[in-house]
Amino acid sequence: MTAVHITIEGAIALVAIDNPPVNAAGFDVRAGLVAAVQTAADNDAVKVIGLYAAGRTFVAGADIREFGQPPKLPLLPEVCDVLEASAKPIVCVLHGTTLGGGLELALSCQARVGIKGLKLGLPEVNLGLLPGAGGTQRLPRLVDGATALGMITSGKPITAQAALEAGLLDDLQDGAPEDVARQAARQVLDGTLTPRVTAAQPNRLTQEQLDSFRAKAKGEVMVRALKAAEASSLPMAEGLAIERALFVEALQSDAHKGMKHAFFAERAVAHIPEAQAEARDLATAGVIGGGTMGSGIATAMLLAGMPVTLIEMQADRVEFARETIARNLDGAVKRGKMSAEQREATLATLTCTTDMGALADVDLVIEAVFESMDVKRDVFGQLDQICKAGAILASNTSYLDVNEIAACTKRPQDVIGLHFFSPAHVMRLLEVVVAKDTAPEVVATSFKLAKKLRKIAVRSEVCDGFIGNRILAYYRKSTAYMQLDGAPFEQIDSALEAFGFAMGPFAVSDLAGQDIGWATRKRLAPTRPEEERYVEIADRVCEQGWFGRKSGKGFYVYDGKTRSVNPAIAEFADAERAAKGITARSFNDQEIVDCYMAAMVAEAARVVEEKIALRPIDVDAVFLFGYGFPRHWGGPLQYADITGLDVILSRIENYAKEDAHYWQVPALLRELVAAGKSFNDLNKNH
Ligand code: 3HC
Ligand code: NAI
Repeated sequence: MTAVHITIEGAIALVAIDNPPVNAAGFDVRAGLVAAVQTAADNDAVKVIGLYAAGRTFVAGADIREFGQPPKLPLLPEVCDVLEASAKPIVCVLHGTTLGGGLELALSCQARVGIKGLKLGLPEVNLGLLPGAGGTQRLPRLVDGATALGMITSGKPITAQAALEAGLLDDLQDGAPEDVARQAARQVLDGTLTPRVTAAQPNRLTQEQLDSFRAKAKGEVMVRALKAAEASSLPMAEGLAIERALFVEALQSDAHKGMKHAFFAERAVAHIPEAQAEARDLATAGVIGGGTMGSGIATAMLLAGMPVTLIEMQADRVEFARETIARNLDGAVKRGKMSAEQREATLATLTCTTDMGALADVDLVIEAVFESMDVKRDVFGQLDQICKAGAILASNTSYLDVNEIAACTKRPQDVIGLHFFSPAHVMRLLEVVVAKDTAPEVVATSFKLAKKLRKIAVRSEVCDGFIGNRILAYYRKSTAYMQLDGAPFEQIDSALEAFGFAMGPFAVSDLAGQDIGWATRKRLAPTRPEEERYVEIADRVCEQGWFGRKSGKGFYVYDGKTRSVNPAIAEFADAERAAKGITARSFNDQEIVDCYMAAMVAEAARVVEEKIALRPIDVDAVFLFGYGFPRHWGGPLQYADITGLDVILSRIENYAKEDAHYWQVPALLRELVAAGKSFNDLNKNH
């Protein structure tokens, strides 16, 4: 099968790109397009070319899988030049998501017609790149400078209507791409659509526009993209050469490696052993518990169009849950996600009650009650009595054993962990925790649910904390150790924020509530090994009732939106050091990052080694979409690959000289280093 077909219909050559699933501009498409233009050029009868794509979208960009491989000619910029130089005008018909290299192909044609519903964008910056096939040079010649810079630097797509108004599209039509291409080609022939060569249009970018975008530009990726756009004031060939050089530079950057990995991580996690199992129907849902998580989960379901029955313990809690959900929906109206009428209609599909019996007919129940095995045991025992056969019974527990929860029912095959992240109607991650008896179709249904909720599901086996919280619980200790050894907590936060985390770990635990970690520490105290170092500073903080933001004070003191360091923390640290005979030493920011990341990688490696996660890339996805891990590093294990596994191994070995209990080298890490392999090599085995 070829990726590009040409059909001659008298004066019209119809050229179709057909490279499922998204018509990415891989080698076959590139070579096919050049050949098709040549065929049309060689045929004297042909006067105009109608270019379109089969399937769900016009070209959604360069083929990302080819990045990093030896380049195969013709490259995309050359194909664009061929299209632009075609003596026979090419009218390009766009549908679906015309993105990146796809839009660049379209920009090189002599006319563009969109099909309703189309979105157009240059998302290269999301991959740590910049448009590399003329996008930064041709777009400012077709639309005003601010629109061009907005698209180039934000990566956000615009609608067909906006593109029409900006002059990026010549027309907007309805119909199948092939029919619209034939029709548009006829319009070129009869003069109702006027072709123009993009390179011949004046550049509409002004210095003021560039300066204003530069003032807002954050990070090397955006700066590079703006530099390329600036070159559009030069003659076309010179500008294209500068763009190309910058694109090649970007391709070699660590930021691109990380962001490309993040792109594939988002998709790779859907490849699970249960993918072929037949998912059950999910029309209605129940949620038990209407606190922080239950109300967020109910909101997420409602926003996805699922009627929800929410159970709370007492009337006042029922009312509280309803109000919280109503407020969440107000937020959706404010953000333009739904109209006021839709909000009313949606809220009408929510039932809040104290009567567990109301769950008799729902297809799925998600339990989000207190994190206590006794409470959960009671709830699941009741669900077993009440729910219809085939209903999925899920727990949102953060740490507890899902096997034990399943054993409270006579239907463990229907029980699963669905671990949402707070706020549950906003955060994209959903850990799907598969217990030993969970039926494959229950797993498949959970992944289908995630898609419906627009979330990214990652499969986890059962362990304390599953993938994310287990790793968090481990590396979080490294920050307490560094603090006790002398690093001020605010330096730890700022070093990690500079590394790319939106918030440092101390600020995060203040936000989540210091009491949560305190409860976990108390729960684990009886099983804590004697040789484990234990830092008491956070306990001292909690003993004062300083639970973080919600109590106005934690590690930081909060005043409205500003935070300042709580001066008591340094005193607690000094007192504990004095009691334990520790002399404070100073840390530089890099040492802090190296230590924190080594801890994260060590536990992540163990999670892969123990097969809690299917692949390293699943761990990366958990951190990218649930823990604010900086996208340009691609996730903790991709960070390890970029840094070098041998470097990480020797860091852990070094730290182990000080604390051999905490710093144990994961066997998997040692094996990979010995075999000269990376974590990414393990992703390829699936
Ligand atoms: N290259 C290679 N594979 C791609 C791809 C691309 N550009 N875009 C999508 N795919 C693959 C996905 O990995 C996925 O594969 P899988 O099924 O094996 O996991 C499959 O196509 C389907 O993709 P989605 O699951 O994402 O499908 P959706 O329908 O949800 O979304 C989309 C479609 C909006 C097109 C989305 O895939 C997307 O945003 N793609 C990337 C677009 C992009 O970044 N383009 C710019 C590329 S860089 C470039 O063009 C450089 C140029 O300037 C030189
Ligand atoms: P919360 O304390 O805010 O809410 C719990 C709610 O459950 C309360 O409103 C309570 O009245 C209700 N409840 C308790 N027993 C009940 C019963 N038998 N029947 C009906 N309602 C009952 O707690 P939160 O934070 O929402 O946590 C709930 C669960 O979600 C816990 O298992 C927790 O570990 C987990 N979780 C919490 C996250 C967080 O960030 N808060 C993140 C992910 C999971």
